[in-house]
Amino acid sequence: MKKILVTGGAGFIGSHTCLVLLQKGYEIFVIDSFINSSRKSLKNVLKIVDEEKKSSFSKKLKIFEGDIRNKELLEEIFNKSRSDGNGNGIEGVIHFAGLKAVEESVNNPFLYWESNIFGSINLFDVMHKNNCHTLVFSSSASIYGKNQTGKIDEYSQINPINPYGTTKMVIERLLEDLQRSFNLTWRIASLRYFNPIGAHYSGLIGESPIGIPNNIFPYITKVAFGALKEVRIFGDDWPTIDGTGVRDYIHVMDLAEGHIKTLEYLFDNKPNIINMNLGTGKGFSVLELINTFENVNNLKIPYVFNSRRSGDVASLVANNSLAKKLLNWEPNRSLRQMCKDGWKWQFKNPEGY
Ligand code: NAD
Ligand code: UFG
Repeated sequence: MKKILVTGGAGFIGSHTCLVLLQKGYEIFVIDSFINSSRKSLKNVLKIVDEEKKSSFSKKLKIFEGDIRNKELLEEIFNKSRSDGNGNGIEGVIHFAGLKAVEESVNNPFLYWESNIFGSINLFDVMHKNNCHTLVFSSSASIYGKNQTGKIDEYSQINPINPYGTTKMVIERLLEDLQRSFNLTWRIASLRYFNPIGAHYSGLIGESPIGIPNNIFPYITKVAFGALKEVRIFGDDWPTIDGTGVRDYIHVMDLAEGHIKTLEYLFDNKPNIINMNLGTGKGFSVLELINTFENVNNLKIPYVFNSRRSGDVASLVANNSLAKKLLNWEPNRSLRQMCKDGWKWQFKNPEGY
């Protein structure tokens, strides 16, 4: 089976994706600096898969602690992969590693350009030198311009409004250049995620933000647990169904499965570059999310209305027809499932990992 390098594999989306890769039989090499994650996520990934398959998968998951800005380490990983098992090296990369806090990026754009862009350049360079040209890149719906209505398709205006989104746009452009310059070699997919939430149903892996969460879902689970007093809803006067912001929430396991489908699509097709939305195509307001969470988990979530948060938009919902068509992929976990699984994770792990 193929060997895959997963950068940032210990993080929220990375750990769920590593689980699906192992379930499908891939051998994985993870590089993670653990700047926003814990080794325990990958330990728990192994726990889940060992239990499911009734055998030990520890030899199929190799973990390297370090930063993607460290070229020597990346080289070492590629070299190790060749001296391992069947002698074939890493054939594909899923690139999650990066910083993702919007506000931090506004306060420290140098850090975001340095870490996300320089780190990615390093990685692509080492891939190229090691003759590995299949890449799935974590982009983001935050690259889209803010004044758009209706569902967002891949041709919608690109106009990020913060340095974090800019780094994703720039990396996409770099990948387009690579594809154009070496058009018979690279197979690339930039996946533009909408709002991933929830957790694996076991409650063993999930999102473990450090400090007070910025995003609505981990904020709700912290309020449910009593660690925070109430949800502050940013705005009740948006032009939406009930005045609160509408987003396209996608279960992290559907997203993880979308990565494996994308990787397999790239392996099975000729060199190409695709920019693709991963979302459900359904929008829910903040109040709908809170109500669903309350109903599914039989809990009360206190909330208050605050003024709008700067940089927010009324509604951001994916047109996901390209992913459905190309990948034959259909996100099938409901908002109820996201709320149930996300709460189970938080309840079992009040402090995260
Ligand atoms: P995360 O922070 O949980 O995971 C990122 C992982 O990368 C972490 O384990 C972190 O320790 C590691 N990392 C960061 N910088 C690194 C570096 N320079 N070298 C090595 N490791 C490094 O975030 P996530 O939610 O799992 O997001 C994964 C990717 O998806 C990120 O690139 C993010 O920008 C993108 N994304 C996330 C969302 C979201 O809402 N979660 C939405 C759109 C896009
Ligand atoms: N919201 C609140 N209260 C909170 C947090 C959020 O009312 O405490 C509202 C926001 O105003 C918005 C909705 O909940 O209407 C969702 O906000 P999030 O912060 O959870 O998510 P965003 O859509 O703002 O952004 C997220 C990630 C980005 C990513 C983007 C992709 O933070 O990195 O999804 O769509 F790029």
